[in-house]
Amino acid sequence: MQKGEFVYEGKAKRIYRTETPGVFWMEFKDDATAQNGLKRGTIGDKGVVNTEVTRRVLQHLAKSGVPTHLREQVGERDLLVDGLEMLKLEVVMRNVAAGSLVKRLGIEEGRTFPQGIVELYLKDDDLGDPLINDDHALAMNLATAAELEHVKDLGRKINILLKEYFLAADLILVDFKLEFGRRGGEIVLGDEVTPDTCRLWDRETRKKLDKDRFRQDLGGVEEAYQEVLRRLVAAHA
Ligand code: TMP
Repeated sequence: MQKGEFVYEGKAKRIYRTETPGVFWMEFKDDATAQNGLKRGTIGDKGVVNTEVTRRVLQHLAKSGVPTHLREQVGERDLLVDGLEMLKLEVVMRNVAAGSLVKRLGIEEGRTFPQGIVELYLKDDDLGDPLINDDHALAMNLATAAELEHVKDLGRKINILLKEYFLAADLILVDFKLEFGRRGGEIVLGDEVTPDTCRLWDRETRKKLDKDRFRQDLGGVEEAYQEVLRRLVAAHA
């Protein structure tokens, strides 16, 4: 498979066509942004780690019946994926209070939510990806009512699967963001699942091993990304 015409560059990835219509080449960059693009930098070999973590996580989910866009890994920072008609929303799952939830609701960081929390955000950089509810999503035609129920159900199912997957690597899955799209009539998980899009804490010490180290200038950013991959490889040979 060849990398074809350039299609799109996002904050952390570039997308190219391939010789097969409907199949795209997703290249993971080392670039990192935070605060809706205000803070910019690079994280050494992030693209390599994120490619490997996404491949492993999506393969694990696929084995458990979650449809994903992943086809195969074709390079150290390259995945082949199915083109999806993306929903203009982000699904965030939360198991432990952190990030914007702490700021918005005044709940102390670290409080556990045993049932998990599902949130929807509008994908719109100009508006700073605002939190929305189901009625907003329906009113804006972001998805049908059935699709909305389905993405929330998939979010809950993926959360149960990934909590266990990361815990086996001594990582607490604090929260994470998912993006879904349509492939024919089917709703499919797209994008990435990485330390950029998940909060991951060490099970014992609760040390942050994710992009919060970059967002909050905590240092040891590269090491944290490498540590996540190392633990996943060791736990899931
Ligand atoms: P938040 O606490 O900033 O709302 O983020 C919740 C989780 O979702 C966290 O793991 C980071 C992830 N996330 C993204 O990957 N992309 C985004 O645009 C946002 C807002 C969150």
